[in-house]
Amino acid sequence: KPIVLSGAQPSGQLTIGNYLGALRQWDQMQDDYDCLYCIVDLHAITVRQDPVALRSASLDSLALYLACGIDPARSAVFMQSHVPEHSQLAWVLNCYTQFGELSRMTQFKDKSERHNNNVNAGLFTYPVLMAADILLYQANQIPVGHDQKQHLELARDVAMRFNAAHGEVFTLPEPYIPPVAARVMSLQDPTKKMSKSDENPWNFVGLLEDPKMISKKFKKAMTDSEDPPRVRFDIDAKPGVANLLSILSGVTGKTVQALEAEYEGKMYGHLKGDVADAVIALLEPVQKSFIELRADLPVLQSVMRAGAEKARARAAVTLAKVNDAVGFVLP
Ligand code: TYM
Repeated sequence: KPIVLSGAQPSGQLTIGNYLGALRQWDQMQDDYDCLYCIVDLHAITVRQDPVALRSASLDSLALYLACGIDPARSAVFMQSHVPEHSQLAWVLNCYTQFGELSRMTQFKDKSERHNNNVNAGLFTYPVLMAADILLYQANQIPVGHDQKQHLELARDVAMRFNAAHGEVFTLPEPYIPPVAARVMSLQDPTKKMSKSDENPWNFVGLLEDPKMISKKFKKAMTDSEDPPRVRFDIDAKPGVANLLSILSGVTGKTVQALEAEYEGKMYGHLKGDVADAVIALLEPVQKSFIELRADLPVLQSVMRAGAEKARARAAVTLAKVNDAVGFVLP
């Protein structure tokens, strides 16, 4: 079976953007792929985190992965920090990545502007650690949202450069980006990506949010003042409505065209209400299962320990090849 690896940062509550862009595919891919899913806590500390909140958010993420259908009997689910090979490979790959190529990463440019009091070296080399996550397992397919495309390209470039120098050590990974809802936008500013670490809670919908709050957030979502108002998909002229249509399409599986036809002559309020209902219905079983799992620390511990053990055994094989290839004396 081809290998799949993906992860999310525990830097806040996972959102419907994370679900539609990534987690839903993670769940579906378990049937046909050999999957590894991690909680990338090492990545999260590139931005200052409160330790108590980080620990709790990491366990929340683990419980949410499981509640969204990730099955530890089939997939390795683990904390990135439990597999030290990620950091070890990242160091080696740092030496195969150019300053110039990291300077061109748009996420680094954004984040270094937003967190301009803490532009640390980890934030800069973040994509190298991500490349290590992927290359360590010789992963073939990487299910991610659209925003990770540039990081995936870098991972491929670094792998190619390393292979060119040392032989076929790494498998070249391919991004797997869903055809719809790969870029869920902020509800209040639909020209901006929805982000779990957004300081304005009206911009995102968390997977654990109360249904009443979810309804309120969608009702307040920014649309436009086209006269007469028309529900149609036009990202440039009508980013708010386009975002709502993408979310509804992602959740229901109906195409955007079918939805446009369905909402012909209807008001924005109608669309907003239906998006909210669809999201609430999608999340109801996830939230129920989350509450049970999150209260059962022994189960979460046994899942993450078994996941890390599986992952480490596999990671060690690649790391040994890498150490040998670069010329380290084998122990
Ligand atoms: P992160 O934690 O920001 O997001 C986790 C996943 O959710 C996707 N995503 C979205 N998809 C659609 N619309 C959105 N608004 C949206 N926001 C986020 C992301 O594309 C991602 O797939 N660098 C990664 C984490 C990572 C990783 C990896 C991913 C570290 N190592 C190895 C894959 C493979 C990140 O910050 O994702």
